[in-house]
Amino acid sequence: MRLRRKPYAKEMVQKHPRVVLEPERVKGFWKELFGNDRPIHVELGTGKGRFLSTVCRMHPRINWIGVERIEDVLLQACRKSDETDCDNLRFLWMDIQHLNEVFAEGEVEKILLHFSDPWPKKRHAKRRLTHHRFLNLYRKILTPSGTLQLKTDNESLFAFTLEELEHCGFRLLEFSRDFHRSPYARENVQTEYEEKFSERGLPIYYLLARPSSAY
Ligand SMILES: C[S@@+](CC[C@H](N)C(=O)[O-])C[C@H]1O[C@@H](n2cnc3c(N)ncnc32)[C@H](O)[C@@H]1O
Repeated sequence: MRLRRKPYAKEMVQKHPRVVLEPERVKGFWKELFGNDRPIHVELGTGKGRFLSTVCRMHPRINWIGVERIEDVLLQACRKSDETDCDNLRFLWMDIQHLNEVFAEGEVEKILLHFSDPWPKKRHAKRRLTHHRFLNLYRKILTPSGTLQLKTDNESLFAFTLEELEHCGFRLLEFSRDFHRSPYARENVQTEYEEKFSERGLPIYYLLARPSSAY
């Protein structure tokens, strides 16, 4: 995602009411932060945030959290979220590799990976967000019935993910190599990247998986 650096973005992000500062202090207490015990769904690599700003209105009984490490991008997600007055949406400005420092075991009902960077070079495989070092981390924070959803335009990342899921003992619940023409897309909300790729006529790959034992 190419953006001109905005020197003020860091300060604006830190001041935004939906950005949870020092999220390590909320570990194990997310229900208290939201003021209810509704399920928590976390989108990893939120980008400009259109998905979350839409679903938080469509599904008010879910608590939504977006994780993004680039402040300029997160600022756009924050601004997008200003168009809604939902109290079930928060953002984390952090690297996904530290997820287990902010969520306790079994605290998250669903993890969503939407158009994650594919890192095509083999030597960069460890950076892929479905590398087993990440999957093992997700498994820890998911509830026993928790799920992981992936949407991508990248066939290689999809194939890699299927292998890694099997290796880590995740079970496939749903699967499509042409998501938009599948029954799973009925309530789909498109992300910015998804719209871009589907406008070009590219198929979208999709899966939903569950760890055989969440933790
Ligand atoms: C290709 S974009 C997709 C954005 C959005 N999900 C969509 O579908 O439009 C991937 C996003 O993930 C973020 N990202 C990648 N690796 C990350 C990490 N380790 N921690 C936090 N954010 C990350 C990037 O900064 C980028 O904004």
